[in-house]
Amino acid sequence: MMELGKRESIHQFLAEKAELINQMIPQFLPSDNVPPILKEAMEYSLLAGGKRIRPILTMITYEAFGKNSNEILPIAINLELLHTYSLIHDDLPAMDNDDYRRGKLTNHKVYGEALAILAGDALLTHAFGNMAKYLRKFNHLSPDIRLQMIEEFAQYAGASGMVGGQVLDTLGEQGKSTFQDLIYVHTHKTGDLLVFSIRLGALLAEANDTQIEKLTQFGQKIGLAFQIQDDILDVIGDSEKLGKRVGSDQNNKKITYPYFKGIDESKEEVIKLVKEAKQMIQDIGIKTKHLYQIADFMVFRDK
Ligand code: IPE
Ligand code: IPE
Ligand code: MG
Ligand code: MG
Ligand code: MG
Repeated sequence: MMELGKRESIHQFLAEKAELINQMIPQFLPSDNVPPILKEAMEYSLLAGGKRIRPILTMITYEAFGKNSNEILPIAINLELLHTYSLIHDDLPAMDNDDYRRGKLTNHKVYGEALAILAGDALLTHAFGNMAKYLRKFNHLSPDIRLQMIEEFAQYAGASGMVGGQVLDTLGEQGKSTFQDLIYVHTHKTGDLLVFSIRLGALLAEANDTQIEKLTQFGQKIGLAFQIQDDILDVIGDSEKLGKRVGSDQNNKKITYPYFKGIDESKEEVIKLVKEAKQMIQDIGIKTKHLYQIADFMVFRDK
């Protein structure tokens, strides 16, 4: 019973944060001179919901330093723009070829492949434009640190980050790829953006080097846990709850954590990573309550 109460309170906490993001997000899309069909395709995926876990991570990291995260919403929201681009492209026939996402038909199923690619491109580009636009207002931070945020955004999302991970994901082959290859894929395709979400919150809060380093390690562990859980849910999850079809990985003969280790060991690994993650940030002088809660969410999330 205790456990259930704890889960409910985390779900409620996350739902409230997601709601705040959902209210704000439409304002952060481009509006001037945008072909209406492009705007529609961008909104179709961006406003379809989703857990909003990346901007939430930025917000609660910022709050862990005793600050009010409403100030940084216009920065944090860009993680969701970029993440949504990655989902639209991930679902394309040339990649995972999936038909459902966030409880709706995938972008290319509705708008066609060309527009889905371009809607993704526009979300990605706009995320960087917004970052620069809103960071300009953060005069209390040095120009150097603000430029560092944009540079890191490109690193963690780009060729040595998420995109690199996606490339190795598409090259992975059951029977040929190694478990080490899988760790590379998961670390980069998913972990990197989660790590950056946390680092961004810490940089905005003017965290010291030790705090940033430890929070990065926390992010690496929950990032890996998040993707292992995603792999687990692709095997044993409920497609209604997930808003995407299960069994996609096996259809595509993907290498996944359960492929190498089985479901039980995968579950144990998520629990272990979350425990280790929490240890990373226990003595760095920040408020850990909500970061611990979001770490726990990695273990029992079912969507
Ligand atoms: C799905 O991300 C893709 C992965 C990186 C595993 P999420 O599970 O965060 O999807 P949404 O944003 O909630 O739809
Ligand atoms: C996607 O991983 C990671 C991204 C960078 C989008 P998956 O392909 O496992 O994500 P889902 O299961 O389609 O959401
Ligand atoms: Mg994929
Ligand atoms: Mg996919
Ligand atoms: Mg998956």
